[in-house]
Amino acid sequence: MKATITTLFAISLLIFSCNNISSENSKETVESTSIKTDHPQDHPMNEMDYLKTGKELALQTKASLAKYLVSALGENGSAGAVEFCNTKAIAITDSMSLALGAHIKRVSDQPRNPVNTANEAELAYIKKWKEAKVNGKDKAPIVTEIAGKMVGYYPIITNQMCMQCHGKPGIDINAATLKKIKQLYPADQAIGYAENEIRGIFVVDMNKQ
Ligand code: HEC
Repeated sequence: MKATITTLFAISLLIFSCNNISSENSKETVESTSIKTDHPQDHPMNEMDYLKTGKELALQTKASLAKYLVSALGENGSAGAVEFCNTKAIAITDSMSLALGAHIKRVSDQPRNPVNTANEAELAYIKKWKEAKVNGKDKAPIVTEIAGKMVGYYPIITNQMCMQCHGKPGIDINAATLKKIKQLYPADQAIGYAENEIRGIFVVDMNKQ
């Protein structure tokens, strides 16, 4: 177990991004009130298929964000990369959404950008994941049907690399980076995190087939 954690940690250091989707992919469950699960033949895709497809889309978005952020950090350091996230994070998420024919967004209960504020239903899921974490558990991603669309929710977990922009000011976040964050996001709520906390969620809308 220790070895696994160490390996995961090493990987998470390599895969550094404005976001980090949970690597808990083995324990997915389905929460759906509106579709019967016992007739999979009746549908081209069942809930588990949507859950997996949504996760795939979220992971691709994450990988794309990571790729661009790594070069921004290399070129400009953490304060400079804040500007990259400011101008490019939503654009990259949106362009991925278009390319994949689904809609993907990142939302948080403690948003940095107010545009990324979680709605009531999303807040409820975030709360559940946070409660599970407090009890030492990892709650699995969720898919549900809303207004005729399948919507997947995937937790985004912090790792050590997020701390320079989402950790504790003065300890993890240096003065120049904090200044830049405050300048771009006067209403920032996304600081004070520790590692392995729920930073937010990916929300993936998919058309039903
Ligand atoms: C270089 C600084 C920087 C680093 C490092 C960073 N972020 Fe961010 N993050 C930002 C900025 C800036 C935004 C606001 C982006 C925007 O305006 O859409 C943001 C936004 C987000 C959001 C969208 C919700 C919100 O608060 O607006 C999530 C989720 C997020 N970050 C998670 C992470 C995670 C997880 C990590 C580590 C894997 C990480 N970030 C690393 C700067 C950073």
